[in-house]
Amino acid sequence: MRISEPQIANRLAELDVELQRGTALADLTSLGFGGTTDLLRLRKHETIPDLLRLLDSKHIPHKFLGGGSNLLVGDGELPWVVLRLVRPEPDIVLEGNYAHVDAAADLGRTVTFCAKHDLGGMEGLIGVPGTVGGALRMNAGAYGMQIGSYVREVKLYRAAARKIEILRGHQISFEYRHTSFAPDDMMLAVTLELPSKPYKEILQGIRICNEKRRSSQPLGQKSAGCIFKNPPGGSAGRMIDELGLKGLSVGDARVSDRHANFFVNAGHASAKDMLALIADVRERVRKAYGVTLENEVVVWNA
Ligand code: EPU
Repeated sequence: MRISEPQIANRLAELDVELQRGTALADLTSLGFGGTTDLLRLRKHETIPDLLRLLDSKHIPHKFLGGGSNLLVGDGELPWVVLRLVRPEPDIVLEGNYAHVDAAADLGRTVTFCAKHDLGGMEGLIGVPGTVGGALRMNAGAYGMQIGSYVREVKLYRAAARKIEILRGHQISFEYRHTSFAPDDMMLAVTLELPSKPYKEILQGIRICNEKRRSSQPLGQKSAGCIFKNPPGGSAGRMIDELGLKGLSVGDARVSDRHANFFVNAGHASAKDMLALIADVRERVRKAYGVTLENEVVVWNA
Protein backbone atom coordinates (compact mmCIF):
# COMPACT_ATOMS: atom_id res chain seq x y z
CA MET A 1 0.00 0.00 0.00
CA ARG A 2 1.34 3.40 -0.90
CA ILE A 3 0.80 6.70 0.85
CA SER A 4 0.38 9.11 -2.02
CA GLU A 5 -1.31 12.19 -0.49
CA PRO A 6 1.35 14.87 0.13
CA GLN A 7 -0.75 16.13 3.08
CA ILE A 8 -0.31 12.79 4.88
CA ALA A 9 3.40 12.68 4.12
CA ASN A 10 3.77 16.20 5.61
CA ARG A 11 1.87 15.24 8.73
CA LEU A 12 4.05 12.14 9.14
CA ALA A 13 7.13 14.34 9.08
CA GLU A 14 5.60 16.54 11.79
CA LEU A 15 5.09 13.43 13.92
CA ASP A 16 8.75 12.50 13.46
CA VAL A 17 7.80 9.48 11.37
CA GLU A 18 10.05 8.63 8.44
CA LEU A 19 8.23 7.37 5.35
CA GLN A 20 10.26 4.74 3.54
CA ARG A 21 8.40 4.12 0.32
CA GLY A 22 8.11 0.75 -1.41
CA THR A 23 9.99 -1.33 1.13
CA ALA A 24 10.50 -5.03 0.42
CA LEU A 25 9.57 -6.99 3.53
CA ALA A 26 11.74 -9.80 2.19
CA ASP A 27 14.66 -7.69 3.46
CA LEU A 28 13.13 -7.23 6.93
CA THR A 29 12.11 -10.81 7.71
CA SER A 30 14.30 -13.80 8.51
CA LEU A 31 12.43 -16.01 6.02
CA GLY A 32 13.65 -13.71 3.25
CA PHE A 33 10.44 -13.39 1.26
CA GLY A 34 7.38 -11.19 1.40
CA GLY A 35 5.87 -8.38 -0.64
CA THR A 36 6.29 -4.63 -0.78
CA THR A 37 4.66 -1.71 1.01
CA ASP A 38 5.40 1.67 2.58
CA LEU A 39 7.32 1.47 5.85
CA LEU A 40 6.79 4.07 8.58
CA ARG A 41 9.76 4.39 10.92
CA LEU A 42 8.71 5.76 14.32
CA ARG A 43 11.25 7.88 16.13
CA LYS A 44 9.12 8.90 19.13
CA HIS A 45 6.80 6.81 21.28
CA GLU A 46 4.83 9.92 22.24
CA THR A 47 3.54 10.62 18.72
CA ILE A 48 2.14 7.09 18.20
CA PRO A 49 -1.43 7.90 19.34
CA ASP A 50 -1.57 10.84 16.89
CA LEU A 51 -0.06 8.70 14.14
CA LEU A 52 -2.68 6.00 14.59
CA ARG A 53 -5.48 8.57 14.66
CA LEU A 54 -4.13 9.89 11.37
CA LEU A 55 -3.95 6.44 9.76
CA ASP A 56 -7.46 5.56 10.96
CA SER A 57 -8.92 8.83 9.72
CA LYS A 58 -7.39 8.20 6.28
CA HIS A 59 -8.45 4.53 6.28
CA ILE A 60 -4.89 3.30 5.99
CA PRO A 61 -4.58 -0.22 7.48
CA HIS A 62 -1.33 -0.92 9.29
CA LYS A 63 0.73 -3.64 10.94
CA PHE A 64 3.44 -3.36 13.54
CA LEU A 65 6.78 -5.01 12.81
CA GLY A 66 9.35 -6.11 15.38
CA GLY A 67 12.46 -8.02 14.34
CA GLY A 68 10.66 -9.99 11.62
CA SER A 69 12.09 -13.29 12.87
CA ASN A 70 8.83 -15.10 13.61
CA LEU A 71 6.86 -13.74 10.71
CA LEU A 72 5.57 -15.04 7.37
CA VAL A 73 4.60 -12.17 5.06
CA GLY A 74 2.42 -12.58 1.94
CA ASP A 75 3.67 -12.01 -1.60
CA GLY A 76 3.19 -9.03 -3.93
CA GLU A 77 1.88 -5.55 -3.15
CA LEU A 78 0.68 -5.63 0.47
CA PRO A 79 -2.65 -4.02 1.44
CA TRP A 80 -1.36 -2.33 4.60
CA VAL A 81 1.55 -0.13 5.64
CA VAL A 82 4.07 -1.32 8.19
CA LEU A 83 5.11 0.57 11.34
CA ARG A 84 8.42 -0.04 13.00
CA LEU A 85 10.18 1.59 15.96
CA VAL A 86 13.57 3.17 15.36
CA ARG A 87 16.00 1.89 17.96
CA PRO A 88 17.02 4.72 20.28
CA GLU A 89 20.54 5.18 21.66
CA PRO A 90 20.99 3.98 24.36
CA ASP A 91 18.35 1.27 24.14
CA ILE A 92 19.15 -0.30 27.53
CA VAL A 93 19.52 1.54 30.82
CA LEU A 94 20.48 -0.40 33.97
CA GLU A 95 19.44 0.52 37.49
CA GLY A 96 20.53 -2.04 40.08
CA ASN A 97 18.86 -5.33 39.11
CA TYR A 98 16.48 -3.58 36.73
CA ALA A 99 17.07 -3.26 32.99
CA HIS A 100 14.93 -0.67 31.20
CA VAL A 101 14.91 -1.81 27.59
CA ASP A 102 13.38 -0.27 24.46
CA ALA A 103 11.17 -2.68 22.50
CA ALA A 104 13.33 -2.11 19.41
CA ALA A 105 16.46 -3.39 21.18
CA ASP A 106 17.98 -6.58 19.81
CA LEU A 107 17.22 -9.49 22.17
CA GLY A 108 20.62 -11.18 21.92
CA ARG A 109 22.47 -7.90 22.48
CA THR A 110 20.28 -7.22 25.51
CA VAL A 111 21.15 -10.60 27.01
CA THR A 112 24.90 -10.05 26.52
CA PHE A 113 24.81 -6.41 27.66
CA CYS A 114 23.07 -7.41 30.91
CA ALA A 115 25.47 -10.35 31.32
CA LYS A 116 28.47 -8.01 31.12
CA HIS A 117 26.93 -6.14 34.04
CA ASP A 118 26.53 -9.36 36.05
CA LEU A 119 22.80 -9.68 35.39
CA GLY A 120 21.73 -13.16 34.31
CA GLY A 121 18.63 -15.33 33.99
CA MET A 122 18.14 -14.93 30.26
CA GLU A 123 20.96 -17.21 29.06
CA GLY A 124 18.51 -19.49 27.22
CA LEU A 125 17.36 -16.61 25.03
CA ILE A 126 20.81 -15.90 23.64
CA GLY A 127 20.28 -17.44 20.20
CA VAL A 128 16.69 -16.32 19.77
CA PRO A 129 16.66 -13.77 16.96
CA GLY A 130 14.49 -10.65 17.01
CA THR A 131 13.71 -7.63 19.14
CA VAL A 132 12.86 -7.44 22.82
CA GLY A 133 9.37 -6.21 21.86
CA GLY A 134 8.77 -9.26 19.69
CA ALA A 135 10.06 -11.61 22.38
CA LEU A 136 7.79 -9.94 24.93
CA ARG A 137 4.66 -10.13 22.79
CA MET A 138 4.98 -13.88 22.27
CA ASN A 139 6.74 -14.67 25.55
CA ALA A 140 9.75 -16.11 23.76
CA GLY A 141 11.51 -18.90 25.59
CA ALA A 142 14.10 -21.63 25.26
CA TYR A 143 16.02 -24.07 27.43
CA GLY A 144 13.69 -23.85 30.37
CA MET A 145 13.29 -20.08 30.60
CA GLN A 146 10.91 -17.49 29.21
CA ILE A 147 11.21 -13.70 29.06
CA GLY A 148 7.89 -13.20 30.90
CA SER A 149 9.44 -14.44 34.16
CA TYR A 150 11.56 -11.29 34.36
CA VAL A 151 9.02 -8.66 33.28
CA ARG A 152 8.16 -6.08 35.94
CA GLU A 153 6.66 -3.31 33.81
CA VAL A 154 5.67 -2.83 30.16
CA LYS A 155 5.08 0.41 28.30
CA LEU A 156 2.74 -0.18 25.38
CA TYR A 157 0.37 1.53 23.01
CA ARG A 158 -3.06 0.11 23.81
CA ALA A 159 -5.03 0.20 20.59
CA ALA A 160 -8.38 -0.30 22.37
CA ALA A 161 -7.81 2.72 24.64
CA ARG A 162 -5.91 4.62 21.91
CA LYS A 163 -3.21 5.66 24.36
CA ILE A 164 0.14 4.74 25.81
CA GLU A 165 -0.15 2.82 29.08
CA ILE A 166 2.16 1.25 31.64
CA LEU A 167 1.27 -2.25 32.83
CA ARG A 168 2.81 -3.91 35.87
CA GLY A 169 4.07 -7.47 35.48
CA HIS A 170 1.22 -8.96 37.51
CA GLN A 171 -1.34 -7.41 35.14
CA ILE A 172 0.00 -9.47 32.24
CA SER A 173 -0.29 -13.22 31.88
CA PHE A 174 2.62 -15.03 30.27
CA GLU A 175 2.01 -18.55 29.06
CA TYR A 176 3.81 -20.89 26.65
CA ARG A 177 4.38 -18.71 23.55
CA HIS A 178 1.33 -16.65 24.48
CA THR A 179 0.57 -13.44 26.39
CA SER A 180 -2.54 -11.52 27.40
CA PHE A 181 -1.64 -8.54 25.18
CA ALA A 182 -4.25 -7.72 22.53
CA PRO A 183 -3.18 -8.46 18.95
CA ASP A 184 -3.06 -4.75 18.12
CA ASP A 185 -1.18 -3.63 21.26
CA MET A 186 2.28 -2.30 20.45
CA MET A 187 5.14 -3.06 22.81
CA LEU A 188 7.23 0.08 23.38
CA ALA A 189 9.54 -0.65 26.32
CA VAL A 190 9.97 -3.07 29.18
CA THR A 191 11.56 -3.18 32.62
CA LEU A 192 13.14 -6.53 33.46
CA GLU A 193 14.29 -7.55 36.92
CA LEU A 194 17.27 -9.87 36.56
CA PRO A 195 19.13 -11.93 39.16
CA SER A 196 22.73 -10.96 39.97
CA LYS A 197 25.22 -13.51 38.66
CA PRO A 198 28.93 -13.27 37.88
CA TYR A 199 29.59 -12.64 34.17
CA LYS A 200 31.78 -15.74 33.89
CA GLU A 201 28.97 -17.95 35.15
CA ILE A 202 26.44 -16.40 32.77
CA LEU A 203 28.88 -16.84 29.90
CA GLN A 204 29.15 -20.52 30.67
CA GLY A 205 25.36 -20.88 30.52
CA ILE A 206 25.30 -18.93 27.25
CA ARG A 207 27.94 -21.21 25.73
CA ILE A 208 25.99 -24.34 26.68
CA CYS A 209 22.75 -22.99 25.15
CA ASN A 210 24.59 -21.87 22.00
CA GLU A 211 26.11 -25.32 21.62
CA LYS A 212 22.75 -27.08 22.06
CA ARG A 213 21.16 -24.75 19.53
CA ARG A 214 23.95 -25.16 16.98
CA SER A 215 23.75 -28.93 17.20
CA SER A 216 19.98 -29.17 16.71
CA GLN A 217 18.80 -26.16 14.67
CA PRO A 218 19.54 -24.97 11.10
CA LEU A 219 21.05 -21.65 12.17
CA GLY A 220 22.68 -20.65 8.88
CA GLN A 221 19.48 -20.96 6.88
CA LYS A 222 16.58 -18.58 6.33
CA SER A 223 13.77 -19.60 8.68
CA ALA A 224 11.30 -18.25 11.22
CA GLY A 225 12.43 -20.61 13.97
CA CYS A 226 9.84 -23.21 14.86
CA ILE A 227 6.80 -23.05 12.61
CA PHE A 228 4.38 -24.78 15.00
CA LYS A 229 3.89 -24.54 18.75
CA ASN A 230 4.48 -27.79 20.56
CA PRO A 231 1.15 -29.44 21.44
CA PRO A 232 0.59 -30.02 25.18
CA GLY A 233 2.99 -32.73 26.31
CA GLY A 234 4.32 -33.33 22.79
CA SER A 235 6.92 -32.17 20.32
CA ALA A 236 5.95 -30.92 16.86
CA GLY A 237 9.53 -31.44 15.62
CA ARG A 238 9.60 -35.07 16.75
CA MET A 239 6.19 -35.86 15.21
CA ILE A 240 7.11 -34.33 11.84
CA ASP A 241 10.45 -36.15 11.92
CA GLU A 242 8.80 -39.49 12.79
CA LEU A 243 6.60 -39.13 9.72
CA GLY A 244 9.77 -38.91 7.60
CA LEU A 245 8.97 -35.39 6.42
CA LYS A 246 12.43 -33.82 6.69
CA GLY A 247 13.29 -32.49 3.23
CA LEU A 248 9.63 -32.31 2.12
CA SER A 249 9.36 -29.28 -0.18
CA VAL A 250 6.94 -27.04 -1.98
CA GLY A 251 9.03 -24.98 -4.40
CA ASP A 252 11.96 -23.72 -2.34
CA ALA A 253 10.06 -23.94 0.98
CA ARG A 254 11.48 -26.99 2.71
CA VAL A 255 11.24 -28.88 6.01
CA SER A 256 14.73 -28.59 7.49
CA ASP A 257 16.91 -31.70 7.44
CA ARG A 258 18.28 -30.70 10.82
CA HIS A 259 15.15 -29.84 12.83
CA ALA A 260 11.76 -30.85 11.47
CA ASN A 261 9.86 -27.95 13.05
CA PHE A 262 12.03 -25.44 11.17
CA PHE A 263 10.84 -24.76 7.62
CA VAL A 264 13.51 -23.03 5.59
CA ASN A 265 13.62 -20.84 2.51
CA ALA A 266 16.15 -22.85 0.54
CA GLY A 267 16.39 -20.38 -2.35
CA HIS A 268 13.56 -18.35 -3.78
CA ALA A 269 10.59 -19.57 -1.76
CA SER A 270 7.38 -17.53 -1.83
CA ALA A 271 4.78 -17.12 0.89
CA LYS A 272 2.46 -19.25 -1.23
CA ASP A 273 4.99 -22.11 -1.20
CA MET A 274 5.58 -21.86 2.54
CA LEU A 275 1.85 -21.71 3.36
CA ALA A 276 1.21 -24.76 1.17
CA LEU A 277 4.01 -26.65 2.95
CA ILE A 278 2.64 -25.68 6.38
CA ALA A 279 -0.88 -26.80 5.41
CA ASP A 280 0.44 -30.10 4.01
CA VAL A 281 2.51 -30.93 7.11
CA ARG A 282 -0.32 -29.92 9.46
CA GLU A 283 -2.71 -32.24 7.62
CA ARG A 284 -0.28 -35.17 7.65
CA VAL A 285 0.29 -34.76 11.40
CA ARG A 286 -3.45 -34.51 12.00
CA LYS A 287 -4.10 -37.72 10.06
CA ALA A 288 -1.29 -39.63 11.78
CA TYR A 289 -1.60 -38.35 15.36
CA GLY A 290 -5.04 -36.74 15.56
CA VAL A 291 -3.34 -33.49 16.67
CA THR A 292 -3.91 -30.19 14.88
CA LEU A 293 -0.70 -28.21 15.20
CA GLU A 294 -1.11 -24.53 15.91
CA ASN A 295 1.13 -21.97 14.15
CA GLU A 296 3.84 -20.37 16.21
CA VAL A 297 4.84 -18.29 13.19
CA VAL A 298 2.70 -15.18 12.73
CA VAL A 299 1.17 -14.97 9.24
CA TRP A 300 0.53 -11.61 7.58
CA ASN A 301 -1.22 -12.64 4.44
CA ALA A 302 -3.20 -10.27 2.28
N1 EPU B 1 13.27 -33.94 17.69
C1 EPU B 1 13.35 -34.90 16.73
N2 EPU B 1 13.51 -34.51 15.43
C2 EPU B 1 13.61 -33.22 15.07
C3 EPU B 1 13.53 -32.22 16.06
C4 EPU B 1 13.36 -32.61 17.38
O1 EPU B 1 13.25 -36.09 17.01
O2 EPU B 1 13.75 -32.95 13.87
C5 EPU B 1 13.15 -34.35 19.09
C6 EPU B 1 14.42 -34.03 19.87
O3 EPU B 1 15.34 -35.07 19.75
C7 EPU B 1 13.88 -33.87 21.28
C8 EPU B 1 12.47 -33.32 21.07
O4 EPU B 1 12.11 -33.61 19.72
O5 EPU B 1 13.79 -35.10 21.92
C9 EPU B 1 12.40 -31.83 21.32
O6 EPU B 1 13.28 -31.13 20.42
P1 EPU B 1 14.09 -29.83 20.83
O7 EPU B 1 14.88 -30.06 22.05
O8 EPU B 1 14.79 -29.34 19.61
O9 EPU B 1 12.97 -28.83 21.26
P2 EPU B 1 11.67 -28.35 20.52
O10 EPU B 1 10.53 -28.64 21.43
O11 EPU B 1 11.59 -28.85 19.13
C10 EPU B 1 11.67 -26.01 21.62
C11 EPU B 1 11.28 -24.65 21.12
C12 EPU B 1 12.47 -23.97 20.47
C13 EPU B 1 13.61 -23.88 21.47
C14 EPU B 1 13.97 -25.30 21.93
C15 EPU B 1 15.02 -25.31 23.01
C16 EPU B 1 8.94 -24.66 20.48
C17 EPU B 1 7.96 -24.80 19.37
N3 EPU B 1 10.22 -24.78 20.14
O12 EPU B 1 11.95 -26.79 20.47
O13 EPU B 1 12.08 -22.66 20.16
O14 EPU B 1 14.74 -23.29 20.89
O15 EPU B 1 12.79 -25.92 22.48
O16 EPU B 1 14.48 -24.91 24.22
O17 EPU B 1 8.55 -24.45 21.61
C18 EPU B 1 11.01 -21.36 18.47
O18 EPU B 1 10.12 -21.19 19.29
O19 EPU B 1 11.01 -20.85 17.34
C19 EPU B 1 12.10 -22.23 18.84
C20 EPU B 1 13.06 -22.56 18.00
